[in-house]
Amino acid sequence: MSDVPGFDVPESARQRLALALDLDDVVEAQRVAGQLQPWFGVAKVGLELFCAAGPDAIAAMHDLGFRVFLDLKLFDIPNTVYRSARVLGALGVEFLTFHSRGGQDMLRAGVEGLAEGADGVGAQTPTALAVTVLTSDGDAPSHIVPNRIRTAVEGGCGGLVMAAEDLDMASQLAPRMKKVVPGIRLPGSDTHDQSRAATPAEAAANGADLLVIGRTVTAADDPEAAAAAVVASI
Ligand code: C5P
Repeated sequence: MSDVPGFDVPESARQRLALALDLDDVVEAQRVAGQLQPWFGVAKVGLELFCAAGPDAIAAMHDLGFRVFLDLKLFDIPNTVYRSARVLGALGVEFLTFHSRGGQDMLRAGVEGLAEGADGVGAQTPTALAVTVLTSDGDAPSHIVPNRIRTAVEGGCGGLVMAAEDLDMASQLAPRMKKVVPGIRLPGSDTHDQSRAATPAEAAANGADLLVIGRTVTAADDPEAAAAAVVASI
């Protein structure tokens, strides 16, 4: 159970929910994360917040007691990805994302960089997550997802980020990989730019290990009620 007084949220549910902090200000991110902490055990620091605050954003979430998911979706030549991952691997994050589209050599370089960076400071090695296809991309041909999953396996990644509808395929092709699902919307909630959205109940029932929750909670009229609805539905 959450140790926040007045809330009765199973710890297993909190640790299955990552709060997408798509904000450009670390103070605001701390406020939002603090408000929603009873329902979320993982804080996702994305490109916007990392561009605004860098490693301070990660330290701020650690200080609040969150596990941190750094979502930078690295995609570059293997050497650059290796060197960047080595820096990021020393920050104490639990997950870092890479684009599977970057190919097997790039992913391997990232995985190696993460391990080296973590090793250098005695931190836990972050799990490399490969993004198969952006959930905003509704036009990707059907053969792309299985190919990207195979690339992620061959590249040594520990998990996949994908739309809920691809969970079955991921379970078949990569049963041991952690499955992370963004594009989550409560029933009736605006889908915004997500073209392959699913409800929390669908994602959870189809085997998502970690659900990335953004605007369906953060942009809701009552974010706390929305967060409680997400927890209730998984
Ligand atoms: O607000 P919303 O729920 O759409 O936010 C989804 C979050 O998940 C964003 O931070 C976005 O960058 C991230 N994401 C995604 N699709 C992916 C990978 C990550 O939407 N394939």
